[in-house]
Amino acid sequence: MNPKIIINIIYIVSVVLFATGLKMLSSPASARKGNLVSAMGMFLTVAATLFSKGLTFQWIITGVAAGALLGIAAARLVSMTAMPEMVALLNGSGGIASLFVGWAVYHFSPDSDTFTTTTIFLSVLIGGVTFTGSIIAWGKLSEKISGKPFLFTGQQIVNIVILVALLACGIVFAINPAANYPVFIAIVGLSLALGVLVVIPIGGGDMPVVISLLNSYSGLAACAAGFVIQNNVLIVAGSLVGASGIILTKIMCKAMNRSLANVLFSGFGSAAQKQGEGIEGDIKPITPQDAFFILDAASSVIFVPGYGMAVAQAQHVVRELGELLEENGAEVKYAVHPVAGRMPGHMNVLLAEANVSYDNLVDMDEINLGIENVDVAVVIGANDVVNPAARHDESSPIYGMPIINVDKAKTVFVLKRSMNPGFAGVQNELFFFDNTRMLFGDAKESIQGLIAEFKNS
Ligand code: TAP
Repeated sequence: MNPKIIINIIYIVSVVLFATGLKMLSSPASARKGNLVSAMGMFLTVAATLFSKGLTFQWIITGVAAGALLGIAAARLVSMTAMPEMVALLNGSGGIASLFVGWAVYHFSPDSDTFTTTTIFLSVLIGGVTFTGSIIAWGKLSEKISGKPFLFTGQQIVNIVILVALLACGIVFAINPAANYPVFIAIVGLSLALGVLVVIPIGGGDMPVVISLLNSYSGLAACAAGFVIQNNVLIVAGSLVGASGIILTKIMCKAMNRSLANVLFSGFGSAAQKQGEGIEGDIKPITPQDAFFILDAASSVIFVPGYGMAVAQAQHVVRELGELLEENGAEVKYAVHPVAGRMPGHMNVLLAEANVSYDNLVDMDEINLGIENVDVAVVIGANDVVNPAARHDESSPIYGMPIINVDKAKTVFVLKRSMNPGFAGVQNELFFFDNTRMLFGDAKESIQGLIAEFKNS
């Protein structure tokens, strides 16, 4: 059979593996296998491409070995809470790779046709924006640079001027690429600058949304690079990444009740947010000993994890306490808010790591339906996602965000270290409600205290 046909058949198999893998990623039960299936697709693609070109393998093997070592080290060393940072760096790598592919093709064949030069322009533009945008996102998330939105007068105008200049350069370049190497260099420089300028005005807390968007861009850049080198599978894989990234971005925005424009342009987090003035009621702290008596008598308990559970790495002790409560005759569920934590699926991943059964995970809408019948809602390092102000306080930055209505449960325990606000910077009226008890301290230590009480009883 013609080797070209064999390669294309392998590409089709790979594309089916990518799509199947993506589908499997949508459920925690099949996500690991989905990852493996997609990785197999990628392996087949890379192998087929390499063997189709009659290449010398010396540099390729060196590159694969270096990449594999870096990948293994990063995957092993990076903690779960730092996963969004790692994804940012991976997106950035995808972006710069597409930029270099476009550059290399232009460098070695400067007089390509207009279609190819247009795709070179697009892969450099989107790849460049993705690269520097991702580096800034990584810096903000890891606090290497300030997470505060960096705003200056005329910022949007500067961005628009750069975008218009880029389009003008793109037209000049596409019309006569061979004579316009300096224009191409300007395109590279302006794209890199634009990536920095569009991400610096966005607050650190919104970086997960930005990273998801940049993930989508890295797919589009790869897709453009696929057109540059006329590789069908790169075009399809890039489109899949582009589409899934934008869908995820939309889901995250919807779960926060914010538009993408609000995330990108509002400078959320720049102004001092309202600190819950006018909240009435007293804070009622509780000790693990007293909390134990209430839990011991409860017949239904829900755990509502949030970012603080990730910080405290409390997922294993939470599962242990859940098992003790079940042994004690209580029904135990884990209520997961779609934007609890700092990345999509953050809580699901942590609970899965602690071997909490998927059957015990309940999503927000389902738990809210019967929450009045829950004896105790244990809020573990969650704050914004259980703030009742989201339902009624139109002046609150989280107004309209769907929340888990823990305040409607019979008793609420809130496990956190202080009265500090969460990501949105607003005080939580839940902490002052009559049915709320504050169990102050690191979430892991507080849960360990409860476990000790159960074991000693
Ligand atoms: P947050 O509202 O950020 O609250 C987390 C709470 O955890 C804080 O109030 C903190 O209080 C507490 N905490 C931190 N470390 C702790 C520890 N070691 N032990 C106990 N408590 C600890 O978290 P959330 O309720 O999960 O809400 C997520 C927020 O992030 C939402 O506003 C959401 O819109 C935003 N966001 C989410 C995503 C995704 S995709 N998940 C993306 C972008 C933005 P103390 O300091 O007093 O302990």
